[in-house]
Amino acid sequence: MSQLHSPIIAPSLLAADFLHLDKAVELINDSEADWLHIDVMDGVFVPNISFGFPILEAIRPHIRKPLDVHLMIVEPMKFVRELAALGVDTMNVHYEVSPHLHRSLGAIRDAGMKAAVTLNPHTPVELLGDVLGELDMVLLMSVNPGFGGQRFIPQTVDKVRRLRRMIDERGLSTLIEVDGGVNAKTGAELVAAGADALVAGSYVFAHEDPRAAIHSLKVLAPQTK
Ligand code: DX5
Ligand code: ZN
Repeated sequence: MSQLHSPIIAPSLLAADFLHLDKAVELINDSEADWLHIDVMDGVFVPNISFGFPILEAIRPHIRKPLDVHLMIVEPMKFVRELAALGVDTMNVHYEVSPHLHRSLGAIRDAGMKAAVTLNPHTPVELLGDVLGELDMVLLMSVNPGFGGQRFIPQTVDKVRRLRRMIDERGLSTLIEVDGGVNAKTGAELVAAGADALVAGSYVFAHEDPRAAIHSLKVLAPQTK
């Protein structure tokens, strides 16, 4: 069955004003945001470099909400211990760089974090059939990873629907999160299709009222069936 509560909203730090990260921290703490989404890039897996551990270290003591860390790097498992020590709640590793995904998910959980796998737009959800029970969350990319402000890939809505079915058929509580081009319109389609969590970068941070933008996602109605 679809989740009947409001979606989890995770604003993406990538779209924040890096000269004033304290403002982003304040927004997360004092709004309806549920998590902070953090995009770490290496310039190899994706054609861009964002930020790394020093930024996480600087903000972690001030953020009162869970950190959802999205690693767009080729060897994410090198950093399990560092991320756990930094108080990261959810560690997202890309399917496309995980030859031993089952082992990686176990290692992430053993380190005390929630284990999530991220799928690029071209990677079918059906590939997760045999590890679904080991996953706390699946993060579906609705843009090609590496940059904020891109156009939502509409095919993602069907991927959410198919993954929702797989999770429900197995009676699991694995969450479905979607990242890229999320706004009130695409967010509504995703939540209706069965998404539990929405990442939003530019929609929140470029909005004239970021709190209102977060609210507009928070009130999206899940599908009742
Ligand atoms: C893109 C990142 C996203 C990004 C989303 O590679 O994974 O989290 O910040 O940005 P918007 O919401 O602007 O598409
Ligand atoms: Zn992301």
